[in-house]
Amino acid sequence: MTDRLSDLSKRALKDIRNSSTLEELDSVRVQYLGKKGSVSIQLKKLSDLDPSDRPRIGKEVNKLKKLVDQEITNKKNSLNDEKIKSNIEDSSLDVTMPGRTSIIGNPHPVSSTLNEIEKIFLNAGFLVEDGPEIEDEYHNFTALNIPENHPARAMHDTFYFNTQYLLRTHTSPIQIRSMEKYGVPIRVIAPGKVYRRDSDITHTPMFHQIEGLVIDKDINFTHLKGILHDFINTFFEDDMKLRFRPSYFPFTEPSAEVDLLSKDNHWLEILGCGMVHPKVLTNLGIDNETFNGYAFGMGVERLAMLKYGINDIRLFYENDLNFLNQFK
Ligand code: DAH
Repeated sequence: MTDRLSDLSKRALKDIRNSSTLEELDSVRVQYLGKKGSVSIQLKKLSDLDPSDRPRIGKEVNKLKKLVDQEITNKKNSLNDEKIKSNIEDSSLDVTMPGRTSIIGNPHPVSSTLNEIEKIFLNAGFLVEDGPEIEDEYHNFTALNIPENHPARAMHDTFYFNTQYLLRTHTSPIQIRSMEKYGVPIRVIAPGKVYRRDSDITHTPMFHQIEGLVIDKDINFTHLKGILHDFINTFFEDDMKLRFRPSYFPFTEPSAEVDLLSKDNHWLEILGCGMVHPKVLTNLGIDNETFNGYAFGMGVERLAMLKYGINDIRLFYENDLNFLNQFK
């Protein structure tokens, strides 16, 4: 009897070992452990045995059953592992390949520059104001002390829609709109797009300016110089040199143009400024004996070019990703 059992055991283990698929293994399981399987039959045959032999043989048959069961489970696990592995290898899916990333854009260098400039002036207590890009000639010129037929109108290469409406040539009209809205005293900056019929290495037909306006009592030129120096040093995170050159703007008196000494020792014009002309205030019904102030208008692209070392302003507007991706 025990010889037969050990034969059976050997056969079972060999059949299990030789199963190369889960299906084969399952038929081996049925063959030995199924209702009519060889091991099950041995269990049934126990009742035919002499009662004195039953416990010993019974123990062995049970041991055999357990062994076969265990071996089948082990083999099943290893066949399963192999199947998963070969599935992975067979399919064209390479799980080690990096996933598809979507391209995430980044702020345009001019937008970043505008945001930085706004932040600096917000910290200095300035309000940020907005104005229309389609402007009327009153706000763009007349209210700024540039009457019709004044030669200064020719300095602006204006895009006109008709005799009354135009694309604003500077952000200075927002000075007028802000004082109309809030009166004085006032302390604002106004960033925005401006338009001129001009295009070369330092000019684009559309560019950005930031206008500044401070009207209060007893304001003088040193306040203007102070705020511009503080702003420039904060913006460039360095001690920068500014040069104030006497100039002319109809809406300021005295007026100056300001140049900045670049890192490679070149003076570059970055803004116009001055003390607000008394006529601009009286145009708005503001008492120019009590109130006075300063104003400035800066070219944003110029500042961005200096900060990032860009030598052609047109690069900003060519939508070249190789250029734009540098500002991530
Ligand atoms: N609006 C002038 C321009 O575009 C710049 C400017 C000069 C603005 C003097 C000012 C200023 O506010 O006071 O050329």
